[in-house]
Amino acid sequence: MKEMIIVLDFGGQYNQLIARRVRECGVYCEVHPYNTDPKELARLSPKGIILTGGPNSVYAEGSPLCTKEVFELGIPVLGICYGAQILAFVLSGKVQPAPVSEYGRTEVTIDEESVLFEGVKKTSVTWMSHTDYIAEAPEGFAVRAKTLNCPVAAMEDTSRKLYAVQFHPEVSHSEEGFRILGNFVKKVCGCACDWRMDSFVESSVRELRERIGNGRVLCALSGGVDSSVAAVLLSKAVGKQLTCVFVDHGLLRKNEGDEVEAVFGPDGPYDLNFIRVNAQEHFYEKLKGVTEPEKKRHIIGEEFIRVFEAEAKKIGQVEFLAQGTIYPDVIESGLGESAVIKSHHNVGGLPDHVDFKEIVEPLRMLFKDEVRKAGLELGIPEKLVFRQPFPGPGLGIRIIGEVTAEKVKMVQDADAILREEIGKAAEENPSWMPAQYYAALTNMRSVGVMGDDRTYDYAVALRAVKTDDFMTANAAPIPFELLSHITDRIVNEVDGVNRVFYDLTSKPPATVELE
Ligand code: XMP
Repeated sequence: MKEMIIVLDFGGQYNQLIARRVRECGVYCEVHPYNTDPKELARLSPKGIILTGGPNSVYAEGSPLCTKEVFELGIPVLGICYGAQILAFVLSGKVQPAPVSEYGRTEVTIDEESVLFEGVKKTSVTWMSHTDYIAEAPEGFAVRAKTLNCPVAAMEDTSRKLYAVQFHPEVSHSEEGFRILGNFVKKVCGCACDWRMDSFVESSVRELRERIGNGRVLCALSGGVDSSVAAVLLSKAVGKQLTCVFVDHGLLRKNEGDEVEAVFGPDGPYDLNFIRVNAQEHFYEKLKGVTEPEKKRHIIGEEFIRVFEAEAKKIGQVEFLAQGTIYPDVIESGLGESAVIKSHHNVGGLPDHVDFKEIVEPLRMLFKDEVRKAGLELGIPEKLVFRQPFPGPGLGIRIIGEVTAEKVKMVQDADAILREEIGKAAEENPSWMPAQYYAALTNMRSVGVMGDDRTYDYAVALRAVKTDDFMTANAAPIPFELLSHITDRIVNEVDGVNRVFYDLTSKPPATVELE
């Protein structure tokens, strides 16, 4: 049986990070709602349970809590922040408002006697974020760390294998955090820490087979990393029971439709049913005369669903609808609601008129880099696995103003040149490889001269950004010679374009995409 740690979600903001850190320790980790039945926990038989932080006060009415039974399963428990206070509260210690709230970097002094703190510096910086604190540890608990304002920064009852820390070991600001989590996972829970992506792939295939049985699965394939990995995983599990519908909305990058078909179509390596819907004209028709960016997004998203539904109708009833949802797309409220899928300003949302019984989301528990690792493990071409992000509405939001087939062609051709040149240059100097780079078509036309003739053509904007999280971004420092070479190629090779700009603006105040 697979070694697993379960994180019980009490609504804290770092819950994803806890799961991620545990996996970095080599142990599979799942996040479950805080009110998961203890019997279910016993059935899942994890090697350890972690209670997350959360915004509530344990003693306030209606706050999310777990019952004592969770602590009587014989499974080691680590409570973090609010989770630590739950342990104290439920086991009859004392939790109360702290006279001084601690927020941010806080020095903690620990007692090295604890297994949790083996190899950890006696005094180290941790990340705190609390207004309540544990004033008195429950009976049977020994206090193992304190801060200036917090008498119980860590406590433990080794006989019952219950541990609690007031600080957040999962965030990188906690200097010794990773070691502390590692100690919990290895030394307290006794995990072998041998979970790797290949075991994820293997166990997912097995679980998908069990769940799907002889059922049929329908998947909307975009050619993006997530839906591609989900599709290949499913095809490994249930082969031809899977049908992938790829809607070519005519707003993809140059040759992208054919590239997706080459991988997933009948001549590709995978055993699945692949349907390509060439809906280019339909989308151009719907976008005729539309210039407002949000309206374009809405139309593209909506039509995508309608085209997908029409195709699905032809297939008839399927038991499962597959989605490439990944962990960051999932918001687990942690407060007893079922998980809500972010409407990820993406193409999609759920189709209303597809006849299916259940949704299957095989990547639901993975982070983006883990999805990529799974993709490589599954043998998906690197080019596809490491694709830069591409927005669902595609070139529709990279053509300012009205979208037409002619403009799509211009932006595709310019973008292909940019990607080819940056790709080549980054091979030599990978360090300045931008996180995202593309060409867009501005709605500006200007006068130029070509040969002896006057031109009145469009201007292309090049955008290349460095960013870690896409929330903020800086223009990538592309060498001037390279920019100049790309510009020459674009104006010479792309019909209808006579000027090229490079966008130097950061985000904020700009955004990554032009629309
Ligand atoms: P912005 O333009 O918001 O972009 O700074 C940040 C990241 O999000 C992507 N993006 C989108 N992705 N549908 C998507 O699937 C969209 O409508 C959309 N708008 C922006 C963008 O490519 C960048 O990676």
